Amino acid sequence: MKNVFVIFVVVLVATAAAKKGWKLRQRQQCKYDKSAWSDCDTKTNTVSRVLTLKSGKEGCQQTQNQTITCDRFERLQAWKIKKAESRRELQEKKHQRKERQQEMKENKQLVKEQLERCRYEHSDWSECDQATKTVTRNFTLSEGEQGCEQSHTITIACDKLNRIQAWKAKKRDRKQNRIDEKLQMKQDRKEKRKLEKEQRLKCKYDKEDWSECDNTTKHSNPSYDIKGWRRRRMRTNNKCHHFMFKV
Ligand SMILES: *[C@@H]1O[C@H](CO)[C@@H](O)[C@H](O)[C@H]1NC(C)=O
Ligand SMILES: *[C@@H]1O[C@H](CO)[C@@H](O)[C@H](O)[C@H]1NC(C)=O
Ligand SMILES: *[C@@H]1O[C@H](CO)[C@@H](O)[C@H](O)[C@H]1NC(C)=O
Repeated sequence: MKNVFVIFVVVLVATAAAKKGWKLRQRQQCKYDKSAWSDCDTKTNTVSRVLTLKSGKEGCQQTQNQTITCDRFERLQAWKIKKAESRRELQEKKHQRKERQQEMKENKQLVKEQLERCRYEHSDWSECDQATKTVTRNFTLSEGEQGCEQSHTITIACDKLNRIQAWKAKKRDRKQNRIDEKLQMKQDRKEKRKLEKEQRLKCKYDKEDWSECDNTTKHSNPSYDIKGWRRRRMRTNNKCHHFMFKV
């Protein structure tokens, strides 16, 4: 009994789905020209329009009379107007944004050109103005062609200046640290070399005779590469190394 019920439900669902699919296909296959909506018929409270088949396969209805309630029609119209309005607004905003970006780009270009043509000397930053919480810096023209501004002033928030200065100080410190480290390393190396030299001078070596020429390390040219090995051995100081010099 239970199984039969399950099959029944499955069939029902499948049928509904098939019907929906058929309707969708039908809508896609049958294209209609739509007339204007009629005026609201106050007796039936409906508006209607006629759809005439424009293109479609077999099975499409030639004409259809679409009828909806006047209320629904009004809501639909209102919704359409709203949609058109919002689309227009969006377009407008997009356009404005583009214009603003263009303007900014042009401004930047202008400033850049001016900076290239006009050179300025600047004062120190002013004290932080407690009322506006800003600092200013004056720029006066030092060299430049005609059309250069004689002077201008830049104003920024005190906080921003503090941040910039802190950042600059940090950068300066890091650079100084790197320089110091390098100097220290150089000095250490020098010290080490000096110590090594002193050590070497403390150690006296016996010299053996030169060894025979080593014929195993041949070069490609016909003559042999002559390699002699001179051995230097420590004599007095146990800390001295056993040297082998390549000649
Ligand atoms: C469409 O149907 C409505 C309501 O049934 C009717 O009043 C109207 O005359 C019909 N219009 C056409 C063009 O058949
Ligand atoms: C900038 O110039 C104005 C007017 O000449 C002056 O009052 C102000 O103190 C100057 N500011 C700085 C930081 O030099
Ligand atoms: C190395 O080569 C030279 C020249 O050919 C030869 O006179 C000498 O005996 C060789 N020495 C050894 C150790 O083979």
